Amino acid sequence: MTATILDGKAFAAGVRAKVADHVARLRDSFGVMPGLAVVLVGEDPASQVYVRSKGKQTVEVGMASFEHRLDAATSEAELLALISQLNEDPKIHGILVQLPLPSHLDSDLVINSINPAKDVDGFHISNVGLLGTGQKSMVPCTPLGCLMMLRAHHGRLSGLDAVVVGRSNIVGKPMAQLLLGDSCTVTIAHSRTRDLAETCRRADILVAAVGRAEMIPGDWIKPGATVIDVGINRIAAGDKTRLVGDVHFDSAAQVAGAITPVPGGVGPMTIACLLANTVTAACRAHGLEEPEGLTV
Ligand code: GUN
Repeated sequence: MTATILDGKAFAAGVRAKVADHVARLRDSFGVMPGLAVVLVGEDPASQVYVRSKGKQTVEVGMASFEHRLDAATSEAELLALISQLNEDPKIHGILVQLPLPSHLDSDLVINSINPAKDVDGFHISNVGLLGTGQKSMVPCTPLGCLMMLRAHHGRLSGLDAVVVGRSNIVGKPMAQLLLGDSCTVTIAHSRTRDLAETCRRADILVAAVGRAEMIPGDWIKPGATVIDVGINRIAAGDKTRLVGDVHFDSAAQVAGAITPVPGGVGPMTIACLLANTVTAACRAHGLEEPEGLTV
């Protein structure tokens, strides 16, 4: 058997098209221009690439993009002052502080200083608590993108066995909450899980988010399962490098029912969902109906 490839690139283009429609509706009917502020501290090369891509896609769907690039030596007080200013600014509906921050800055403190209604990453403790209790919140972008693809592929997820490998605050934990919210039976596995292979083999839905190149082989996968690979790992390939996921794609695709490739699977969904969260935040800020299908 060969798995269906879940094309995240095409799916993300669909999400962006929906976002663009809502942005046009907000502008034409209500005079509202959704705005996203992205804050980058320092010169981490991967972060610079992401931030540039976020700014470009924000403008492409018709929203306003505000970029704040701060020196690596920026003090916590300076960063908190900027966030406070963005919290107060009515042109800004979403605020994203790119992680990781330089080590002299306390990420938790910084994230928790963002107005939760503008926290389009969904990392503020208030949004984490709202998600965990099944209340309306801002949902972290990568898990939201994974859930959208799973719902599109399966329809209802109710009763399915879901295994999330990885327990990060950015992906693993919120992914587990979303799957639980859709009535899956959820296991969170991680580096200390005793028999990871056997745990993975139980999964109807397997979400891999550990950041270890190709660590999940095909024989850990239940025949017909849906595999969502969140990993983006760069490995040496001759004198070049190559991007691979946390799942060994070729062997997994022989067993799985459906699988996301790397690149072109989950990756493109993250920024698309950031734009979706920004338009959702703008609707909430103005007391307008929220777009359907762009949030949980
Ligand atoms: N760094 C890696 N992933 C993310 C993300 O989803 N949001 C932010 N702000 N930083 C990140």
